[in-house]
Amino acid sequence: MYHKERDSFPKDFLWGSASAAYQVEGAASEDGKGESVWDRFVQIPGKTFKGTTGEVAVDHYHRYKEDVQLMAEQGLKAYRFSVAWTRIIPDGDGEVNEKGLEFYDNLIDELIEHNIEPVLTLYHWDIPQALQDKYGGWEGRQVIQDFTRYAEILFKRYNGKVKYWVSLNEQNIFITLGYSMAAHPPGVTDTKRMLQANHIASLANAAVIKRFKELDIRGKIGPSFAYGPTYAIDSHPENQMAAQNNEEFNAHYWMDVYVNGRYPTVAWKHYERLGIAPEVEPGDEELLKAGKPDFMGLNYYQTNTVAANPLDGVGFGKMNTSGKKGTSEESGTPGLYKSTQNPYVERTDWDWDIDPTGLRIAMRRINSRYNLPILITENGLGAYDTLEEDGTIHDTYRIDFIKKHIEAIQDAITDGVDVMGYCTWSYTDLLSWLNGYQKRYGFVYVDREELDEKELKRYKKDSYHWYKKVIETNGEEL
Ligand code: NOJ
Repeated sequence: MYHKERDSFPKDFLWGSASAAYQVEGAASEDGKGESVWDRFVQIPGKTFKGTTGEVAVDHYHRYKEDVQLMAEQGLKAYRFSVAWTRIIPDGDGEVNEKGLEFYDNLIDELIEHNIEPVLTLYHWDIPQALQDKYGGWEGRQVIQDFTRYAEILFKRYNGKVKYWVSLNEQNIFITLGYSMAAHPPGVTDTKRMLQANHIASLANAAVIKRFKELDIRGKIGPSFAYGPTYAIDSHPENQMAAQNNEEFNAHYWMDVYVNGRYPTVAWKHYERLGIAPEVEPGDEELLKAGKPDFMGLNYYQTNTVAANPLDGVGFGKMNTSGKKGTSEESGTPGLYKSTQNPYVERTDWDWDIDPTGLRIAMRRINSRYNLPILITENGLGAYDTLEEDGTIHDTYRIDFIKKHIEAIQDAITDGVDVMGYCTWSYTDLLSWLNGYQKRYGFVYVDREELDEKELKRYKKDSYHWYKKVIETNGEEL
């Protein structure tokens, strides 16, 4: 549908940007912080690009004032960040570490002072290692209580200051990569265990949302979900069926549970038949239903294109974040579809499909299936950037990427979708988990090349100045 004229962005639209604790903070064992599963995982040889870790990251822990200053100068309206559970409760279920809370007190106050709305993510993949050792992390039901206790500390402390809360970030990614593909901690390849850990994570997600409501916290809460619509490679009915499979198994399987407290029929029956469906205990369904989010957080990067897979079995194909195309058998899991190349789109340096229309489709689908407001909690371009001699970075490709995605959002708004805001990924350059620091997403370049005194110096990219204009004009000038 072509709109001759697009609706304007709402007046209070949150023009934002995002990050996550492990990817920016550094100070990995400072001020009483405990060890998380990521602190441990990156020590295993061969797991990350050139063995990079978040030990120092971009040192946001010590430079948050400088970073907030840059945000303020740019006119940023919202900053999404995550709290490291291990700073607040170093071993996950014991003593509270006041020093850790102080860091977030300061960050939040600094943001508010500069009229930047804090958007707080409770969990961005860094569960305490102690809980992993104690009861298997997300595989142990005790995590529901422990995560709720941790969340409650933050709810009470920041009630009134933080109005937007994200419960779990990309549950579908950390669970799938962690328990099915062994690419993330805890490095497991077992679909049954994956489905069980996922069920418990969904319960924990619902439990914190329920607690948020019981405590009558002033604000809104929802999960961030990694969703890119699936296309069939062509109109062959079997290929269409493959696309439908991917939607049901990789999208509805999570979002239906968040919103309706129930698993989609087809996927559930399939897993039951294979004897790997999660064990549901009395009371689970009530809890899931009691944890309905206020909005759907959407992390959008790309669409997937699939074809029918002649092999029977269960599989999850290649997830969005892997960036590689290939069959699901290559990843060791025979699947219900196989990923294939979309001939109509361009790709990023990391081979991710560039597809702004896919964002509009994602928003429309969420709107029609779940009827919830959407907060775009992540969207951005990972690319190699070049720092010029004069300290400039000409990232026109990033401007082009974000501009087209903003237009797609505006189209969705014109279609009638309720959108609260847009957070780009990311604010500063940061650690890209498995891809080290060479894959850059930020408006602000961080020089990590030489670890000497000019170490971690910040530089504004061209996209920084461009986004400043976008915010100033509330999206009128792109
Ligand atoms: C989503 C994740 O939430 C974030 O941590 C990651 O860096 C980006 N995707 C890019 O892969």
